[in-house]
Amino acid sequence: MSGAPVAGTDIRAGAGNAGDPIFEARNVSLGFGGVKALSEVSFSVRKGELFSIIGPNGAGKTSMLNCVSGRYRPTSGKVFFQGRDITGMTPNHRAALGIGRTFQNLALFGHMSVLDNIMVGRHHLLKNNFLTGALYWFGGARREELAHRREVEEIIDFLEIQHVRKAMAGTLSYGLRKRVELARAIALKPDLILLDEPMAGMNLEEKEDMARYIVDLNEEWGMTVVMIEHDMGVVMDISHRVMVLEFGRKIAEGSPEAVLADPRVRTAYLGESDEPEPETAAAAREVA
Ligand SMILES: Nc1ncnc2c1ncn2[C@@H]1O[C@H](COP(=O)(O)OP(=O)(O)O)[C@@H](O)[C@H]1O
Ligand SMILES: [Mg+2]
Repeated sequence: MSGAPVAGTDIRAGAGNAGDPIFEARNVSLGFGGVKALSEVSFSVRKGELFSIIGPNGAGKTSMLNCVSGRYRPTSGKVFFQGRDITGMTPNHRAALGIGRTFQNLALFGHMSVLDNIMVGRHHLLKNNFLTGALYWFGGARREELAHRREVEEIIDFLEIQHVRKAMAGTLSYGLRKRVELARAIALKPDLILLDEPMAGMNLEEKEDMARYIVDLNEEWGMTVVMIEHDMGVVMDISHRVMVLEFGRKIAEGSPEAVLADPRVRTAYLGESDEPEPETAAAAREVA
């Protein structure tokens, strides 16, 4: 297998620095009844960046992504995309502006083929959508449909799912379904893609493949990526910058190295005491 993305952090760090902000959250708070899922979270993501959000379960990561995609509307605060206030916009409107996403829990149509699942993802990109039926044979819509199919095939090639393109999505392995879901999300050609735990439940090989696709999407397709992921190895390896949430608050943000070295992060997220002593840890492992 091709290895994990070996992109060194030095190389990665450069790529994310140039762009203007593509997304910005300003003092976003979100409450569910008594539960405060997010408290005054502010951050911005630059064009071309691969930005990761980490934190313990229940920290508010998915809630934050939902505030970006429009599934949730912040109780207070604002979100901006390409400099535009999108706080009041529906998910569809945001998707049309160029925000794509995958879901933490798979949302494929199990009884439909892989190809059809991806076509569904692209469907509302068709400009002639509304009139497709009527105008199909009068040129425009048909040409568009052909171009559309070519792009879908390109995505299928990119994610190496040619061999299952006719298979029903519901019959695929977990790793392949996650890949199809990514295919469907990128079929919308978003400028910003939101990935909620794209490697959850995958084995090592599947994770390495997925990490490579994400890096390629970012570097070769030029998509800005905001990713939630639990696998710290992957996060640290491929992210330009990382934001850490805990109990709905931002507790750190910066380069992977800076975030890893932050004592608050070590305590809160990694569950370490203030001064981890390598010898002690090693000794403890030996005893265990
Ligand atoms: N739709 C919802 N209704 C009620 N509470 C929710 C809802 N979504 C999330 N929460 C709560 O908000 C907090 C943050 O959840 P979530 O954003 O899913 O965390 P994470 O993705 O970091 O694990 C949790 O306490 C969770 O129970
Ligand atoms: Mg989550």
